[in-house]
Amino acid sequence: MDFSLTEEHQMIKEAAKTFAETELLPDVIERDIHAEFPERQVKMMGELGFMGMMVSPEYGGSGMDTLSYVLAMEEIAKIDASAAVIMSVNNSLVCWGLEKFGTEAQKQKYLIPLASGKKLGAFALSEPEAGSDATHQRTTAEDKGDYYLLNGVKNWITNAGHADYFLVIAQTHPEKGHKGINAFIVEKGWEGFSIGPKEDKMGIRSSDTHSLIFQDVKVPKENRIGDDGFGFKFAMKTLNGGRIGIAAQALGIAQGAFERALQYAKEREAFGKPIIRHQAIAFKLAAMKTRIDAARLLVWRAAWEKDQGLDFTLSSALAKYDAAETAMWVTTEAVQIHGGYGYVREYHVERMMRDAKITQIYEGTSEIQQIVIARQIAQEKIR
Ligand code: CAA
Repeated sequence: MDFSLTEEHQMIKEAAKTFAETELLPDVIERDIHAEFPERQVKMMGELGFMGMMVSPEYGGSGMDTLSYVLAMEEIAKIDASAAVIMSVNNSLVCWGLEKFGTEAQKQKYLIPLASGKKLGAFALSEPEAGSDATHQRTTAEDKGDYYLLNGVKNWITNAGHADYFLVIAQTHPEKGHKGINAFIVEKGWEGFSIGPKEDKMGIRSSDTHSLIFQDVKVPKENRIGDDGFGFKFAMKTLNGGRIGIAAQALGIAQGAFERALQYAKEREAFGKPIIRHQAIAFKLAAMKTRIDAARLLVWRAAWEKDQGLDFTLSSALAKYDAAETAMWVTTEAVQIHGGYGYVREYHVERMMRDAKITQIYEGTSEIQQIVIARQIAQEKIR
């Protein structure tokens, strides 16, 4: 077992770190206050190859492995969790599924611009009444021969206000339950497709979240992904990979908050010495470091299993569950270590604490990850 990073992995990590520090850090507080999408930076991320990291160069991507992707995600999330989720959705939920399950024509038309960062993607599964219970799709896609007629509403869709292409999950054969669900590629601007108002969120405020409304939208047959009825499996398989991306985002948020807390604890003096010399603070930092390193090992293992072509359902759920819980706990402790300073924007950790919360909710709540883990271990043989 070798835990060291290759020279190439180190270079990718360094490139993402430099980008985050020079391009994302300067206005991250302002963007959070005004809920402003990092448009210029997302364009740059496309030019740097961060928007289609795991896609083959043949389809406009960077042809890198999943470990490269999680290394870059961690560095970007460390500075700006909003930019990280924009990147994660495009990479894991949109590009990955298109490359793996799309037709050649779909890859030529949609994947190439998405992976090269010229276009932005969104993934639309959640509905007002189908968040965790994802089989309960109310959006319908009626088969009309050479097209599907799409009707319904999707909720909390990341990137929605800026996306060009949307992967939309909808029910075609209600009598078949989850086996009657399909996934479609829908373009912005199609007749009957409108974007709802922007959500005013607690965290990841500069990522762009809206509902989607479909009223008799005609989706050409050739825009269905996979065989008829493959949509739910498509969503679940895609989310397995998405969970590795969000785990890396959570890890980055935790690492960012830890580094700020550590720095602060070395500089801030109380009762005649730097607060890191007080056990109350030193113990907190030791526990933070331990949990972050443990979460990182889970994230890296999930990435490795995916790259080995192994079933990574369990490892991605473990990574996502642990990294999200770690991020929430570490950021809360980071605010505590900062005392009053932690409660004001200037010190960044209050934003990180708000940003961390979403990692316990999206791409499957922590409770959903526990369900996935419990089901997987129930099937495992006891060794
Ligand atoms: N990987 C592969 N296949 C899976 C799977 C997984 N993780 N989970 C389920 N499946 C398959 C099952 O094997 C089953 O297939 P068969 O019928 O062939 O046996 C089928 O899907 C149905 O599975 P279940 O009977 O287990 O379905 P369920 O109704 O009990 O639900 C669930 C399973 C795990 C709760 C699932 O609904 C789930 O993951 N819910 C959470 C949804 C979610 O993550 N939403 C996030 C939205 S996207 C987002 O958040 C993006 C963003 O904003 C950034």
